[in-house]
Amino acid sequence: MTDATDRELVIRDLRVAPAAKPDREILQGINLTIRKGETHAIMGPNGSGKTTLSYALMGHPAYLIKGGEVLWKGYNLLDLSADKRARLGLFLAFQYPTAIPGLSVASFIRSALNARLQGIDKNPGVDPTDPMRGGVSMLDFRKKMRAKMALLRMEDSFATRYVNDGFSGGEKKRLEMLQMAMLEPEFAILDETDSGLDIDALRIVAEGVNAQLNPDMGVLLITHYQRLLNYIKPDVVHVLAAGRIVTSGGKDLALRLEEEGYGPILREAGLDAGASDDEMAVPQQPETAGAGR
Ligand SMILES: Nc1ncnc2c1ncn2[C@@H]1O[C@H](COP(=O)(O)OP(=O)(O)OP(=O)(O)O)[C@@H](O)[C@H]1O
Ligand SMILES: [Mg+2]
Repeated sequence: MTDATDRELVIRDLRVAPAAKPDREILQGINLTIRKGETHAIMGPNGSGKTTLSYALMGHPAYLIKGGEVLWKGYNLLDLSADKRARLGLFLAFQYPTAIPGLSVASFIRSALNARLQGIDKNPGVDPTDPMRGGVSMLDFRKKMRAKMALLRMEDSFATRYVNDGFSGGEKKRLEMLQMAMLEPEFAILDETDSGLDIDALRIVAEGVNAQLNPDMGVLLITHYQRLLNYIKPDVVHVLAAGRIVTSGGKDLALRLEEEGYGPILREAGLDAGASDDEMAVPQQPETAGAGR
């Protein structure tokens, strides 16, 4: 039994290491509660573990859970495969989206949508290809795609292109947002969706996200720049460093980071801010200390 309600995602003492280096805990006890309807931003130096956190939440096999739990809808997500987490309404927009040559954007999104319609236990009563049995008709799917692509100012031809194949950096990020718009997640993790976007694209993508915000969706927004937070207003801003959330605050925290860099805030948190970004990121485990990087 869990004590988390249906309206929040609770991360408790989450500890994570890369499967390739099981002794190197990147996340050393993350505690975070994000309610539906809230947007939380996470900022932190390069290498502090922001992407590790998003992968751990989504169930990436290259990351080893060393401890903790993530409660959502009465489940500990850490016990579930990535596809089950997606069926429970989780969504991750990748920092570095992968190309899938040979698979069109439309087929990809339709498959994902269909998989979700079946629910976590793949309800046999639902046949996503049959509109009479809980499926989405091709006509409705096309209509929805067109509307969402217009929202993100994507040309219709994108639907027939192969997933991320030959896409520019900005186009990849827009495709991530299109997937989110189509899947209508209940919990969305956006990992540096703003990086690589020009000013106009940033505004369009941010408007796309804002148009989707609703009381039944929680958002975890990973970013390096407070600029994004001018468009998407966070309820809380957290700073991740040295494997933990070292401080949390309002949007003014992001403004302060932009002004001062991480140094002062990390020093206030009792961390040695004289170290380089890389050293700041994750303290070396004793067995790896001194290993050249
Ligand atoms: N599969 C892996 N094998 C070895 N080390 C890894 C692996 N994945 C992540 N790491 C290490 O974990 C640390 C955190 O990486 P992560 O990608 O989570 O950082 P980040 O906060 O997202 O950084 P950025 O701001 O640059 O995106 C880094 O030192 C990285 O090299
Ligand atoms: Mg990252």
